[in-house]
Amino acid sequence: MKNIIAISFLIATVSSFSTAAEKYDTTAFRTATKLCTSCHGTAFYQAKQIDDDDWEFYFDTPGKLEKIHKNDPKGLKAINSSLFKKRKKRLLKFFIANSKYSGAVNGCDANFCGTNH
Ligand code: HEC
Repeated sequence: MKNIIAISFLIATVSSFSTAAEKYDTTAFRTATKLCTSCHGTAFYQAKQIDDDDWEFYFDTPGKLEKIHKNDPKGLKAINSSLFKKRKKRLLKFFIANSKYSGAVNGCDANFCGTNH
């Protein structure tokens, strides 16, 4: 009996750790911070500007992001970078998960501490 209690406690503890760790994709967050934050604000702030459909539209329409940033050499450089190309899918997922109507509210951690820009 004691073992069962100990095991269920262990399972509860471990699963709460794993959900906490999966709140958001920190790699995508850091990539956006590196490539986009200088113009768009923190990655969470950037994500909130538009809704999920718009994120899909901008990311999945060929040449769209390039066109939007064509008068902005630094922006174009970010969009054309190999880092962006490598992480594009992850960034899209991250932006959608934190988009306008997602309801995502992010607390304080090592990457981000509640301020929006
Ligand atoms: C050098 C500045 C700069 C950087 C860096 C930059 N952008 Fe932008 N971005 C802009 C500007 C300026 C606009 C608005 C263009 C307009 O409205 O015509 C814009 C518009 C956008 C839009 C259209 C929706 C909106 O919010 O207006 C998206 C999506 C976008 N950027 C994504 C990104 C992503 C993703 C990155 C990083 C990989 C990035 N941008 C990096 C300057 C930048």
